[in-house]
Amino acid sequence: MKHNRKHKVKHEKDSEAHRIFRESAGHASRGLPQTVNPDEETVPGILHPGSTGVIYCSDRAMANGFSYTSVHEWANLGQGAPEVGQIPDAPQKPQAIPMPIESLEYAPTTGVKALREAVAKLYNLTYRQGKVSQYTYENVCIVPGGRSGLSRVAAVIGDVYTSYQVPDYTAYDQVLGAFKRLVPVPTTLEEDDGYRFNLSQVRKDIRTQGLQVIMASNPRNPTGQVIRDQELNDLVALARDTTTTLILDEFYSWYIYPEKEEDFGKSISSAEFIDDVNSDPVVIVDGLTKNWRLPGWRICWVMGPRNLITALSQSGSFLDGGANHPLQLAAIPLLDPARVKLEKLSLQRHFKHKRDHVLARLKEMELEVKVPPRATFYIWLDLGGLPAPINNGLTFFEELLKEKTIVIPGIFFDINPAHRRNLFNSPCHHFVRLSFGPPLEDLDKGLDAIARVVKAARKEGGPQHFGHSYKKSIDSPTALHRFV
Ligand SMILES: Cc1ncc(COP(=O)(O)O)c(C=O)c1O
Repeated sequence: MKHNRKHKVKHEKDSEAHRIFRESAGHASRGLPQTVNPDEETVPGILHPGSTGVIYCSDRAMANGFSYTSVHEWANLGQGAPEVGQIPDAPQKPQAIPMPIESLEYAPTTGVKALREAVAKLYNLTYRQGKVSQYTYENVCIVPGGRSGLSRVAAVIGDVYTSYQVPDYTAYDQVLGAFKRLVPVPTTLEEDDGYRFNLSQVRKDIRTQGLQVIMASNPRNPTGQVIRDQELNDLVALARDTTTTLILDEFYSWYIYPEKEEDFGKSISSAEFIDDVNSDPVVIVDGLTKNWRLPGWRICWVMGPRNLITALSQSGSFLDGGANHPLQLAAIPLLDPARVKLEKLSLQRHFKHKRDHVLARLKEMELEVKVPPRATFYIWLDLGGLPAPINNGLTFFEELLKEKTIVIPGIFFDINPAHRRNLFNSPCHHFVRLSFGPPLEDLDKGLDAIARVVKAARKEGGPQHFGHSYKKSIDSPTALHRFV
Protein backbone atom coordinates (compact mmCIF):
# COMPACT_ATOMS: atom_id res chain seq x y z
CA MET A 1 0.00 0.00 0.00
CA LYS A 2 1.39 3.45 -0.95
CA HIS A 3 1.30 6.03 1.83
CA ASN A 4 2.13 9.64 1.35
CA ARG A 5 5.46 9.94 3.16
CA LYS A 6 5.39 13.75 3.12
CA HIS A 7 2.31 13.81 5.30
CA LYS A 8 3.26 14.79 8.87
CA VAL A 9 0.12 13.62 10.70
CA LYS A 10 1.19 10.63 12.78
CA HIS A 11 -1.28 10.70 15.62
CA GLU A 12 -4.99 11.18 16.09
CA LYS A 13 -4.54 14.32 18.16
CA ASP A 14 -3.05 16.09 15.11
CA SER A 15 -6.14 15.52 12.96
CA GLU A 16 -9.43 17.37 13.33
CA ALA A 17 -11.49 14.54 11.81
CA HIS A 18 -10.07 12.09 14.36
CA ARG A 19 -10.64 14.50 17.28
CA ILE A 20 -14.33 14.86 16.33
CA PHE A 21 -14.64 11.08 16.27
CA ARG A 22 -12.98 10.68 19.67
CA GLU A 23 -15.17 13.42 21.23
CA SER A 24 -18.39 11.75 20.12
CA ALA A 25 -20.13 9.81 22.94
CA GLY A 26 -18.82 6.28 23.31
CA HIS A 27 -15.84 6.64 20.97
CA ALA A 28 -13.18 7.97 23.39
CA SER A 29 -10.03 5.87 23.68
CA ARG A 30 -10.34 3.34 26.50
CA GLY A 31 -6.71 2.35 26.72
CA LEU A 32 -6.29 3.01 30.44
CA PRO A 33 -8.85 3.28 33.26
CA GLN A 34 -8.09 6.99 33.78
CA THR A 35 -9.04 7.76 30.15
CA VAL A 36 -12.74 6.95 30.81
CA ASN A 37 -14.48 10.18 29.92
CA PRO A 38 -15.91 11.74 33.14
CA ASP A 39 -18.34 13.98 31.16
CA GLU A 40 -19.80 11.01 29.38
CA GLU A 41 -20.06 8.40 32.15
CA THR A 42 -22.22 10.24 34.72
CA VAL A 43 -24.98 7.70 35.31
CA PRO A 44 -23.62 5.31 37.97
CA GLY A 45 -22.45 2.05 36.47
CA ILE A 46 -23.44 2.97 32.90
CA LEU A 47 -20.86 3.01 30.09
CA HIS A 48 -21.48 4.02 26.47
CA PRO A 49 -20.80 0.91 24.35
CA GLY A 50 -20.24 3.12 21.23
CA SER A 51 -22.71 3.09 18.38
CA THR A 52 -21.95 1.04 15.28
CA GLY A 53 -20.05 2.93 12.59
CA VAL A 54 -23.07 3.58 10.41
CA ILE A 55 -24.83 5.39 13.28
CA TYR A 56 -21.75 7.53 14.01
CA CYS A 57 -21.65 8.49 10.34
CA SER A 58 -25.31 9.44 10.16
CA ASP A 59 -24.93 11.53 13.36
CA ARG A 60 -22.00 13.37 11.73
CA ALA A 61 -24.03 13.80 8.54
CA MET A 62 -26.86 15.34 10.58
CA ALA A 63 -24.39 17.77 12.15
CA ASN A 64 -23.63 18.79 8.55
CA GLY A 65 -27.26 19.37 7.63
CA PHE A 66 -28.44 15.91 6.57
CA SER A 67 -32.02 15.18 7.62
CA TYR A 68 -34.72 12.81 6.51
CA THR A 69 -36.42 15.72 4.71
CA SER A 70 -33.20 16.70 2.88
CA VAL A 71 -32.41 13.11 1.96
CA HIS A 72 -32.75 13.76 -1.80
CA GLU A 73 -30.03 16.42 -1.75
CA TRP A 74 -27.61 13.90 -0.27
CA ALA A 75 -25.93 10.78 -1.64
CA ASN A 76 -25.72 8.10 1.01
CA LEU A 77 -22.99 5.72 -0.11
CA GLY A 78 -22.63 4.78 3.55
CA GLN A 79 -25.97 3.02 3.46
CA GLY A 80 -25.69 -0.56 4.72
CA ALA A 81 -29.03 -1.48 3.18
CA PRO A 82 -30.13 -2.24 -0.36
CA GLU A 83 -32.59 0.02 -2.17
CA VAL A 84 -36.07 -1.17 -1.16
CA GLY A 85 -38.13 0.13 -4.09
CA GLN A 86 -39.19 -1.72 -7.22
CA ILE A 87 -36.26 -2.96 -9.37
CA PRO A 88 -36.65 -4.44 -12.88
CA ASP A 89 -38.41 -7.85 -12.98
CA ALA A 90 -38.67 -8.20 -9.20
CA PRO A 91 -41.96 -9.42 -7.65
CA GLN A 92 -44.16 -6.72 -6.09
CA LYS A 93 -43.55 -6.03 -2.40
CA PRO A 94 -46.56 -6.62 -0.07
CA GLN A 95 -48.66 -3.47 0.25
CA ALA A 96 -50.57 -4.35 3.44
CA ILE A 97 -49.99 -6.58 6.47
CA PRO A 98 -52.92 -8.73 7.75
CA MET A 99 -53.44 -8.70 11.52
CA PRO A 100 -55.48 -11.77 12.52
CA ILE A 101 -56.48 -11.71 16.18
CA GLU A 102 -53.96 -14.45 17.15
CA SER A 103 -51.15 -12.29 15.77
CA LEU A 104 -51.80 -9.79 18.56
CA GLU A 105 -50.47 -12.34 21.06
CA TYR A 106 -46.77 -12.89 21.75
CA ALA A 107 -45.16 -15.19 19.21
CA PRO A 108 -42.94 -17.99 20.63
CA THR A 109 -39.31 -16.81 21.23
CA THR A 110 -38.18 -19.27 18.54
CA GLY A 111 -40.76 -17.89 16.10
CA VAL A 112 -43.98 -18.96 14.41
CA LYS A 113 -43.79 -22.65 13.50
CA ALA A 114 -45.11 -22.19 9.94
CA LEU A 115 -42.37 -19.61 9.19
CA ARG A 116 -39.70 -21.86 10.68
CA GLU A 117 -40.97 -24.64 8.43
CA ALA A 118 -40.92 -22.36 5.40
CA VAL A 119 -37.26 -21.41 6.09
CA ALA A 120 -36.23 -25.07 6.55
CA LYS A 121 -38.03 -26.04 3.32
CA LEU A 122 -36.39 -23.25 1.31
CA TYR A 123 -32.88 -24.25 2.50
CA ASN A 124 -33.52 -27.95 1.82
CA LEU A 125 -34.73 -27.18 -1.68
CA THR A 126 -31.96 -24.71 -2.48
CA TYR A 127 -28.95 -26.38 -0.90
CA ARG A 128 -29.75 -29.90 0.32
CA GLN A 129 -31.53 -31.81 -2.42
CA GLY A 130 -30.70 -35.50 -2.29
CA LYS A 131 -29.03 -35.31 1.16
CA VAL A 132 -30.17 -37.67 3.89
CA SER A 133 -30.11 -35.11 6.67
CA GLN A 134 -32.71 -32.38 6.12
CA TYR A 135 -33.52 -29.24 8.11
CA THR A 136 -36.83 -29.13 10.01
CA TYR A 137 -38.47 -26.28 11.91
CA GLU A 138 -36.48 -27.44 14.97
CA ASN A 139 -33.28 -26.21 13.28
CA VAL A 140 -34.64 -22.68 12.75
CA CYS A 141 -35.02 -19.83 15.21
CA ILE A 142 -36.78 -16.69 13.98
CA VAL A 143 -35.20 -13.52 15.41
CA PRO A 144 -36.06 -9.80 15.25
CA GLY A 145 -33.22 -8.85 12.88
CA GLY A 146 -29.72 -10.08 12.12
CA ARG A 147 -28.07 -8.22 14.97
CA SER A 148 -30.56 -9.69 17.37
CA GLY A 149 -29.68 -13.13 15.98
CA LEU A 150 -25.97 -12.45 16.46
CA SER A 151 -26.57 -11.19 20.01
CA ARG A 152 -28.66 -14.24 20.88
CA VAL A 153 -25.82 -16.44 19.64
CA ALA A 154 -23.09 -14.41 21.39
CA ALA A 155 -25.06 -14.56 24.65
CA VAL A 156 -24.86 -18.37 24.68
CA ILE A 157 -21.14 -18.68 23.90
CA GLY A 158 -19.31 -19.85 27.02
CA ASP A 159 -15.83 -18.92 28.28
CA VAL A 160 -14.01 -19.79 25.06
CA TYR A 161 -11.67 -18.27 22.51
CA THR A 162 -13.77 -16.82 19.70
CA SER A 163 -12.00 -16.03 16.46
CA TYR A 164 -12.99 -13.10 14.25
CA GLN A 165 -11.27 -11.37 11.34
CA VAL A 166 -10.42 -7.78 10.48
CA PRO A 167 -12.03 -6.20 8.54
CA ASP A 168 -15.55 -7.49 9.13
CA TYR A 169 -19.06 -6.20 9.88
CA THR A 170 -19.01 -3.26 12.32
CA ALA A 171 -21.57 -4.63 14.80
CA TYR A 172 -19.24 -7.53 15.75
CA ASP A 173 -17.19 -4.96 17.66
CA GLN A 174 -20.06 -4.25 20.06
CA VAL A 175 -21.39 -7.82 20.06
CA LEU A 176 -17.96 -9.26 20.95
CA GLY A 177 -17.40 -6.49 23.51
CA ALA A 178 -20.78 -6.71 25.24
CA PHE A 179 -20.84 -10.42 25.99
CA LYS A 180 -17.98 -10.76 28.43
CA ARG A 181 -17.70 -14.52 28.70
CA LEU A 182 -16.30 -15.20 25.24
CA VAL A 183 -12.71 -14.15 24.62
CA PRO A 184 -12.31 -12.45 21.21
CA VAL A 185 -9.22 -13.44 19.17
CA PRO A 186 -8.51 -11.33 16.04
CA THR A 187 -6.86 -12.27 12.75
CA THR A 188 -6.05 -9.62 10.14
CA LEU A 189 -6.97 -10.36 6.54
CA GLU A 190 -4.45 -8.94 4.07
CA GLU A 191 -5.11 -6.85 0.97
CA ASP A 192 -2.17 -8.50 -0.83
CA ASP A 193 -3.81 -11.86 -0.21
CA GLY A 194 -7.18 -10.65 -1.61
CA TYR A 195 -8.60 -10.73 1.96
CA ARG A 196 -8.62 -14.50 1.77
CA PHE A 197 -9.51 -16.46 4.89
CA ASN A 198 -6.50 -18.72 5.19
CA LEU A 199 -7.81 -22.16 6.15
CA SER A 200 -4.47 -23.76 6.94
CA GLN A 201 -3.73 -20.89 9.33
CA VAL A 202 -7.17 -21.35 10.93
CA ARG A 203 -6.50 -25.06 11.35
CA LYS A 204 -3.21 -24.24 13.05
CA ASP A 205 -4.83 -21.62 15.31
CA ILE A 206 -7.49 -24.11 16.41
CA ARG A 207 -4.70 -26.50 17.43
CA THR A 208 -2.26 -24.04 18.96
CA GLN A 209 -4.57 -21.38 20.42
CA GLY A 210 -7.50 -23.62 21.30
CA LEU A 211 -10.07 -21.64 19.31
CA GLN A 212 -13.53 -23.03 19.91
CA VAL A 213 -15.73 -20.64 17.93
CA ILE A 214 -15.14 -18.89 14.60
CA MET A 215 -17.35 -16.01 13.55
CA ALA A 216 -17.35 -14.41 10.08
CA SER A 217 -19.60 -12.81 7.55
CA ASN A 218 -19.65 -14.73 4.27
CA PRO A 219 -19.95 -13.06 1.77
CA ARG A 220 -17.88 -10.58 3.71
CA ASN A 221 -18.88 -7.02 4.63
CA PRO A 222 -16.95 -4.75 3.83
CA THR A 223 -14.46 -6.42 1.44
CA GLY A 224 -17.07 -8.03 -0.84
CA GLN A 225 -15.09 -11.29 -0.92
CA VAL A 226 -16.70 -14.69 -0.58
CA ILE A 227 -15.67 -18.17 0.53
CA ARG A 228 -17.46 -20.55 -1.83
CA ASP A 229 -17.44 -23.94 -3.56
CA GLN A 230 -14.58 -26.25 -2.49
CA GLU A 231 -13.17 -23.70 -0.06
CA LEU A 232 -16.50 -23.37 1.75
CA ASN A 233 -16.79 -27.15 1.77
CA ASP A 234 -13.32 -27.31 3.38
CA LEU A 235 -14.25 -24.71 6.00
CA VAL A 236 -17.38 -26.63 7.01
CA ALA A 237 -15.35 -29.87 7.09
CA LEU A 238 -12.75 -28.16 9.27
CA ALA A 239 -15.45 -27.15 11.77
CA ARG A 240 -16.81 -30.71 11.77
CA ASP A 241 -13.42 -32.44 12.07
CA THR A 242 -12.02 -30.16 14.76
CA THR A 243 -15.38 -29.73 16.59
CA THR A 244 -15.13 -25.96 16.31
CA THR A 245 -18.36 -23.98 16.11
CA LEU A 246 -18.58 -21.97 12.91
CA ILE A 247 -20.93 -18.98 12.97
CA LEU A 248 -21.48 -17.80 9.42
CA ASP A 249 -23.35 -14.57 8.91
CA GLU A 250 -24.73 -15.13 5.41
CA PHE A 251 -26.76 -11.94 4.99
CA TYR A 252 -25.40 -11.34 1.47
CA SER A 253 -25.87 -14.92 0.26
CA TRP A 254 -27.80 -13.78 -2.86
CA TYR A 255 -25.51 -10.84 -3.70
CA ILE A 256 -23.24 -12.89 -5.95
CA TYR A 257 -22.20 -11.58 -9.37
CA PRO A 258 -21.67 -14.39 -11.85
CA GLU A 259 -19.66 -14.04 -15.03
CA LYS A 260 -21.59 -16.74 -16.90
CA GLU A 261 -25.24 -16.37 -17.88
CA GLU A 262 -26.16 -19.84 -16.57
CA ASP A 263 -24.92 -18.95 -13.07
CA PHE A 264 -27.43 -16.15 -12.53
CA GLY A 265 -29.94 -17.10 -9.84
CA LYS A 266 -27.47 -19.18 -7.78
CA SER A 267 -26.82 -18.22 -4.17
CA ILE A 268 -24.23 -19.41 -1.68
CA SER A 269 -24.62 -20.98 1.73
CA SER A 270 -22.65 -23.30 3.97
CA ALA A 271 -25.94 -25.25 4.26
CA GLU A 272 -24.89 -26.99 1.04
CA PHE A 273 -21.85 -28.60 2.70
CA ILE A 274 -23.23 -29.68 6.07
CA ASP A 275 -23.41 -33.47 6.54
CA ASP A 276 -25.72 -33.79 9.51
CA VAL A 277 -27.80 -30.71 10.36
CA ASN A 278 -28.03 -31.75 14.02
CA SER A 279 -24.39 -32.57 14.68
CA ASP A 280 -22.24 -30.43 12.36
CA PRO A 281 -21.38 -27.36 14.48
CA VAL A 282 -22.40 -24.77 11.88
CA VAL A 283 -24.61 -21.79 12.71
CA ILE A 284 -26.12 -19.77 9.85
CA VAL A 285 -27.56 -16.27 10.31
CA ASP A 286 -29.62 -14.70 7.50
CA GLY A 287 -33.01 -13.11 6.93
CA LEU A 288 -35.20 -10.71 5.01
CA THR A 289 -32.97 -7.66 5.64
CA LYS A 290 -30.72 -7.76 2.56
CA ASN A 291 -31.77 -10.62 0.27
CA TRP A 292 -35.49 -9.78 0.32
CA ARG A 293 -34.61 -6.05 0.55
CA LEU A 294 -36.83 -5.61 3.64
CA PRO A 295 -34.53 -4.16 6.33
CA GLY A 296 -37.45 -2.52 8.14
CA TRP A 297 -39.31 -5.78 8.71
CA ARG A 298 -36.84 -7.12 11.30
CA ILE A 299 -37.57 -10.74 10.38
CA CYS A 300 -34.47 -12.93 10.29
CA TRP A 301 -33.37 -16.40 11.35
CA VAL A 302 -30.58 -18.44 12.88
CA MET A 303 -30.21 -22.04 11.70
CA GLY A 304 -28.21 -24.79 13.32
CA PRO A 305 -28.34 -28.02 15.35
CA ARG A 306 -31.52 -28.52 17.39
CA ASN A 307 -29.60 -28.02 20.66
CA LEU A 308 -28.43 -24.61 19.53
CA ILE A 309 -32.01 -23.52 18.82
CA THR A 310 -33.18 -24.42 22.33
CA ALA A 311 -30.29 -22.33 23.76
CA LEU A 312 -31.29 -19.39 21.51
CA SER A 313 -34.86 -19.66 22.68
CA GLN A 314 -33.53 -19.08 26.19
CA SER A 315 -31.31 -16.10 25.33
CA GLY A 316 -34.16 -14.62 23.27
CA SER A 317 -36.45 -14.90 26.28
CA PHE A 318 -34.46 -12.21 28.12
CA LEU A 319 -32.78 -10.31 25.24
CA ASP A 320 -35.61 -9.45 22.87
CA GLY A 321 -38.73 -11.57 23.52
CA GLY A 322 -39.11 -12.65 19.90
CA ALA A 323 -39.85 -11.19 16.48
CA ASN A 324 -42.96 -9.23 15.55
CA HIS A 325 -45.88 -11.66 15.20
CA PRO A 326 -47.89 -10.15 12.27
CA LEU A 327 -44.76 -9.71 10.14
CA GLN A 328 -43.69 -13.30 10.77
CA LEU A 329 -47.02 -14.42 9.30
CA ALA A 330 -46.67 -11.98 6.40
CA ALA A 331 -43.17 -13.30 5.67
CA ILE A 332 -44.34 -16.88 4.96
CA PRO A 333 -45.52 -16.29 1.34
CA LEU A 334 -42.31 -14.35 0.61
CA LEU A 335 -40.35 -17.58 1.08
CA ASP A 336 -42.23 -19.34 -1.67
CA PRO A 337 -39.49 -20.91 -3.88
CA ALA A 338 -40.93 -19.59 -7.17
CA ARG A 339 -41.02 -16.06 -5.82
CA VAL A 340 -37.51 -16.40 -4.35
CA LYS A 341 -36.19 -17.47 -7.76
CA LEU A 342 -37.47 -14.24 -9.35
CA GLU A 343 -36.16 -12.10 -6.48
CA LYS A 344 -32.66 -13.57 -6.79
CA LEU A 345 -32.48 -13.16 -10.54
CA SER A 346 -33.67 -9.56 -10.58
CA LEU A 347 -31.42 -8.65 -7.65
CA GLN A 348 -28.27 -10.15 -9.17
CA ARG A 349 -28.77 -8.48 -12.55
CA HIS A 350 -29.59 -5.09 -11.07
CA PHE A 351 -26.81 -5.02 -8.48
CA LYS A 352 -24.20 -6.40 -10.88
CA HIS A 353 -24.97 -3.52 -13.20
CA LYS A 354 -24.57 -1.04 -10.34
CA ARG A 355 -21.30 -2.64 -9.20
CA ASP A 356 -19.80 -2.47 -12.67
CA HIS A 357 -20.95 1.13 -13.10
CA VAL A 358 -19.36 2.28 -9.82
CA LEU A 359 -16.11 0.42 -10.52
CA ALA A 360 -15.89 1.98 -13.99
CA ARG A 361 -16.41 5.47 -12.61
CA LEU A 362 -13.79 4.98 -9.89
CA LYS A 363 -11.36 3.82 -12.58
CA GLU A 364 -12.00 7.01 -14.56
CA MET A 365 -10.99 8.93 -11.41
CA GLU A 366 -7.85 6.78 -11.17
CA LEU A 367 -9.06 5.37 -7.88
CA GLU A 368 -7.99 1.80 -8.22
CA VAL A 369 -9.99 -0.84 -6.36
CA LYS A 370 -7.27 -3.39 -5.73
CA VAL A 371 -9.61 -6.14 -4.62
CA PRO A 372 -12.92 -5.62 -6.46
CA PRO A 373 -16.05 -7.09 -4.84
CA ARG A 374 -17.25 -10.47 -6.05
CA ALA A 375 -20.28 -10.33 -3.76
CA THR A 376 -22.24 -7.99 -1.35
CA PHE A 377 -22.94 -4.37 -2.35
CA TYR A 378 -19.77 -2.85 -0.93
CA ILE A 379 -16.49 -1.58 -2.35
CA TRP A 380 -13.50 -1.49 0.02
CA LEU A 381 -11.53 1.40 -1.33
CA ASP A 382 -7.86 1.93 -0.44
CA LEU A 383 -7.13 5.68 -0.21
CA GLY A 384 -3.40 5.15 0.30
CA GLY A 385 -2.51 6.61 -3.12
CA LEU A 386 -4.31 9.95 -2.54
CA PRO A 387 -2.56 13.08 -1.29
CA ALA A 388 -2.59 13.65 2.48
CA PRO A 389 -4.70 14.42 4.44
CA ILE A 390 -7.53 12.82 2.42
CA ASN A 391 -5.60 9.54 2.33
CA ASN A 392 -7.29 8.32 5.50
CA GLY A 393 -10.92 7.26 5.87
CA LEU A 394 -12.02 9.66 8.62
CA THR A 395 -10.72 12.77 6.84
CA PHE A 396 -12.03 11.64 3.43
CA PHE A 397 -15.42 11.09 5.11
CA GLU A 398 -15.47 14.59 6.69
CA GLU A 399 -14.54 16.20 3.35
CA LEU A 400 -17.33 14.35 1.57
CA LEU A 401 -19.86 15.49 4.19
CA LYS A 402 -19.13 19.04 3.00
CA GLU A 403 -20.22 17.77 -0.45
CA LYS A 404 -23.41 16.17 0.94
CA THR A 405 -22.14 12.63 0.48
CA ILE A 406 -21.81 9.90 3.11
CA VAL A 407 -19.25 7.08 3.04
CA ILE A 408 -18.07 4.91 5.95
CA PRO A 409 -14.49 5.30 7.24
CA GLY A 410 -12.59 2.02 7.29
CA ILE A 411 -11.78 2.13 11.02
CA PHE A 412 -15.31 1.00 11.83
CA PHE A 413 -14.56 -2.37 10.27
CA ASP A 414 -11.51 -2.82 12.45
CA ILE A 415 -13.21 -5.01 15.03
CA ASN A 416 -11.30 -3.97 18.09
CA PRO A 417 -13.46 -4.55 21.19
CA ALA A 418 -10.75 -3.30 23.59
CA HIS A 419 -10.46 0.05 21.72
CA ARG A 420 -6.75 0.19 22.47
CA ARG A 421 -4.87 1.19 19.36
CA ASN A 422 -4.09 4.59 17.89
CA LEU A 423 -6.47 4.83 14.93
CA PHE A 424 -3.52 5.63 12.64
CA ASN A 425 -2.14 2.15 13.32
CA SER A 426 -5.31 0.37 12.28
CA PRO A 427 -5.03 -1.76 9.12
CA CYS A 428 -8.38 -0.23 8.04
CA HIS A 429 -7.41 3.40 8.59
CA HIS A 430 -6.63 4.16 4.93
CA PHE A 431 -9.89 2.73 3.63
CA VAL A 432 -13.49 3.72 3.14
CA ARG A 433 -16.44 1.50 2.38
CA LEU A 434 -18.63 2.64 -0.49
CA SER A 435 -22.07 1.06 -0.75
CA PHE A 436 -23.80 0.49 -4.04
CA GLY A 437 -27.00 -0.38 -2.17
CA PRO A 438 -28.76 2.89 -3.15
CA PRO A 439 -30.41 3.54 -6.55
CA LEU A 440 -28.13 4.39 -9.48
CA GLU A 441 -28.97 8.14 -9.54
CA ASP A 442 -27.84 8.47 -5.91
CA LEU A 443 -24.65 6.56 -6.66
CA ASP A 444 -23.83 8.99 -9.46
CA LYS A 445 -24.46 11.98 -7.21
CA GLY A 446 -22.01 10.57 -4.66
CA LEU A 447 -19.44 9.65 -7.31
CA ASP A 448 -19.61 13.21 -8.70
CA ALA A 449 -18.81 14.47 -5.18
CA ILE A 450 -15.88 12.05 -4.83
CA ALA A 451 -14.56 13.20 -8.22
CA ARG A 452 -14.69 16.86 -7.10
CA VAL A 453 -12.84 16.20 -3.83
CA VAL A 454 -10.18 14.01 -5.44
CA LYS A 455 -9.59 16.49 -8.26
CA ALA A 456 -9.26 19.44 -5.87
CA ALA A 457 -6.86 17.54 -3.62
CA ARG A 458 -4.64 16.52 -6.54
CA LYS A 459 -4.24 20.14 -7.72
CA GLU A 460 -1.09 22.08 -6.92
CA GLY A 461 -1.59 23.47 -3.37
CA GLY A 462 -4.87 21.54 -3.13
CA PRO A 463 -4.21 19.49 0.02
CA GLN A 464 -3.99 22.56 2.29
CA HIS A 465 -7.73 23.16 1.79
CA PHE A 466 -8.51 19.85 3.41
CA GLY A 467 -8.40 18.42 6.93
CA HIS A 468 -10.08 21.29 8.80
CA SER A 469 -13.21 23.46 9.27
CA TYR A 470 -15.58 20.62 10.10
CA LYS A 471 -18.98 21.40 11.62
CA LYS A 472 -19.30 19.87 15.05
CA SER A 473 -23.04 20.28 15.23
CA ILE A 474 -25.72 21.90 13.15
CA ASP A 475 -26.51 24.28 16.07
CA SER A 476 -22.93 25.42 16.62
CA PRO A 477 -21.33 25.55 13.18
CA THR A 478 -18.29 27.37 14.54
CA ALA A 479 -17.71 25.06 17.49
CA LEU A 480 -14.63 23.57 15.90
CA HIS A 481 -12.93 26.81 14.95
CA ARG A 482 -10.62 26.37 17.91
CA PHE A 483 -9.04 23.50 15.96
CA VAL A 484 -8.37 25.49 12.79
C1 LIG B 1 -22.84 -8.98 7.67
C2 LIG B 1 -24.11 -8.41 8.25
N1 LIG B 1 -24.79 -9.12 9.14
C3 LIG B 1 -25.92 -8.64 9.70
C4 LIG B 1 -26.40 -7.40 9.37
C5 LIG B 1 -27.56 -6.79 10.09
O1 LIG B 1 -28.77 -7.21 9.84
P1 LIG B 1 -30.03 -6.51 10.56
O2 LIG B 1 -30.17 -5.13 10.00
O3 LIG B 1 -31.14 -7.42 10.21
O4 LIG B 1 -29.78 -6.45 12.04
C6 LIG B 1 -25.70 -6.62 8.45
C7 LIG B 1 -26.20 -5.27 8.11
O5 LIG B 1 -25.50 -4.40 7.66
C8 LIG B 1 -24.53 -7.13 7.88
O6 LIG B 1 -23.80 -6.42 7.01
